Amino acid sequence: MKKLLLTTLCFSIGISGCTGKDSGHCKELTLRETIGKYFLIGTTLNNRQITGTDKESCAIAANQFNSISPEGCMKIKAIHPEEGRYDFAVADGFVDFGEKHQQAVIGHTLVWHAALPDWFCTDKEGKDVSPEVLKQRMREHIYTVVGRYKGRIKGWDVVNEAFADDGTYRNSPFYRILGEEFIPLAFQYAHEADPDCELYYNDFNLHLTPKREAIIRLVKELQRRNLRIDAVGMQGHLWKGSPTIEGVECAIVDLAKADVKVMVTELDLTALPAPKKDLGGEAWADFEYDASIDPYRDGLPDDVEQQWTEHMLSFFKLFLKHKDVITRVTLWGVSDGDSWRNGWPVRGRVDYPLLFDRSHQPKPVVERIIKETENTPNDK
Ligand code: G3I
Repeated sequence: MKKLLLTTLCFSIGISGCTGKDSGHCKELTLRETIGKYFLIGTTLNNRQITGTDKESCAIAANQFNSISPEGCMKIKAIHPEEGRYDFAVADGFVDFGEKHQQAVIGHTLVWHAALPDWFCTDKEGKDVSPEVLKQRMREHIYTVVGRYKGRIKGWDVVNEAFADDGTYRNSPFYRILGEEFIPLAFQYAHEADPDCELYYNDFNLHLTPKREAIIRLVKELQRRNLRIDAVGMQGHLWKGSPTIEGVECAIVDLAKADVKVMVTELDLTALPAPKKDLGGEAWADFEYDASIDPYRDGLPDDVEQQWTEHMLSFFKLFLKHKDVITRVTLWGVSDGDSWRNGWPVRGRVDYPLLFDRSHQPKPVVERIIKETENTPNDK
């Protein structure tokens, strides 16, 4: 009980790990001051956190993380809901939050086929606009949004999820109207709007060889044209058996050879079974609810939690091993209750994919990550 009280006290004032050093006192170690020395350690913020409604999560985000990404407020649907009308209220608050807490602020995302309002790629009759109109809309959107936060955002996810798992271009409205050129154009406009800002391409399932090779071809093509690309973001929405550590390592190594930095941009690890054996990474799958695939509504059994801890830790060990090329690892949410994985790919489940639990307490893996970091040679 005494230990519990001490731990609770430590964490309630923003302490992430009791190392047992300093003659039994809690040493105030956080993720941001430990693993954050090697690469940025980030979290995403949702609107309740940005507007300060969810105070407990705000405290964790501020104390534990040295980078933030917006979960929704900078997507076109949120920030530019109608032609000629922008809504910057939440996005402004997001950037203010990061500056207040000395965090690297990441922009997410400028060009994505989802969270895309109908008006952006269609005319008044609902037909695809011409290539010229779409180029003009992309340019205006990117100049306005990137320009507004010029000098305040460390890097933008310029294009998100442009490829299918087989390495072909996703048949998005952007691709349908502009062909492959929509990607170089987006990178060009973003660089023109803020020449000092880092620019990223972001996608999931990079452990799949055809997709990874397509993304590496894209990186080389952008480099050949002297367009800025600093890093490729690997999202990292993990399942129990997939991708494997080896698959993720292969992606890190291959990307590094293409002379870009690597970021793990949307990390979470489900504790729940997949509804279907060969479920891919498609973000918009929506399977029917079934209680047999929602087994932990009342909490995770100890053995399942221990397996989850070891699994998550093994990915952090991998990231530390490749700290020379990894520049950021961002968790896709602060605590379990916030996670989109409670609703994907089956709505209404209770999942446990993040580093902090539903009561905003650090999970055992946090202390393990900190210890692992402290045992990592500081050769960076
Ligand atoms: O804002 C409305 C709200 O007014 C309404 O009451 C509520 C009712 O459902 O919906 C709210 O919008 C939801 C929004 O999240 C904010 O909660 C949308 O329906 C929902 O589709 C949206 O989902 C987000 C999704 O991207 C689409 O933008 C998820 O939270 C977010 O985690 C997810 O993040 C994406 C990354 O950006 C890219 N990679 C994949 C990742 C997971 O899909």
